[in-house]
Amino acid sequence: MNIVQITDLHLCQNGEKAFHRADATQALKNSVNYLLHSAISIDLVVVSGDISTDGSMDAYETALHELKRLPCPVYYVPGNHDCCKRMEQAGMIPVSSNGTACREIDLPEVSIILMNTAMAGESRGFVNKETLEQLREILNKEAGKPTFLFMHHVPFVTGFTVMDEPFSGVEEFNALISKKEINVCCGHIHAGMVTHTGLATVITCPPICMEMELDFTPAGGDMFYVSEPQFAIHCVNEKQVVTHFAVVPTAESRRGPYPFSV
Ligand SMILES: [Fe+2]
Ligand SMILES: [Fe+2]
Repeated sequence: MNIVQITDLHLCQNGEKAFHRADATQALKNSVNYLLHSAISIDLVVVSGDISTDGSMDAYETALHELKRLPCPVYYVPGNHDCCKRMEQAGMIPVSSNGTACREIDLPEVSIILMNTAMAGESRGFVNKETLEQLREILNKEAGKPTFLFMHHVPFVTGFTVMDEPFSGVEEFNALISKKEINVCCGHIHAGMVTHTGLATVITCPPICMEMELDFTPAGGDMFYVSEPQFAIHCVNEKQVVTHFAVVPTAESRRGPYPFSV
């Protein structure tokens, strides 16, 4: 089973460029075209937040228009740039999920948990007691199959100082996931990272739009490149989960693929 995670689309109304530089609409189009024509078979897609930059309905309509071209279910969690109300209106998240909330998509091969860590008007993450309780209940069911928890914000210190804002409730969240062999799949940081919190594997998915500059100085985490879109694919086989970080080949400087067997 192959689960594609895409994140940080940063679409804007009227196809405007994200942060005046990045053509987010074209980046998403290129990504969907690549997924459609590559040799990957996709069972489902999860979009882990910052679908929009401006929270506009136009951005959500663009996302739906492009992503419905994929022949598989697509699930969404909000990010700090998103508007939950408009995502509800667009049918991307259930109406009851306003505010922080946690829900499960129980599939035969895997359990998918979608958790909202966004709070209106705040760029940092939030997990409140009610959400934690919902998560605890889901995790206590002992799925007996690979479990993926998708959320926007990152529950560890990344080293990108400007992005490492306080995450409300993160200690309680980490105490909970540390006891579970689950895959926690985040967005927000605009870079691919992997770490462990106890038994849990925690990854951040690289972005569709605006790749973070690698900078661990106090000013780091505040500069981006307009580059090729990137995504993650979580492949579930009989023994383990293998996560690939992939690049959508769109730039003229990128040639291939060529065979190794020459
Ligand atoms: Fe973002
Ligand atoms: Fe974000």
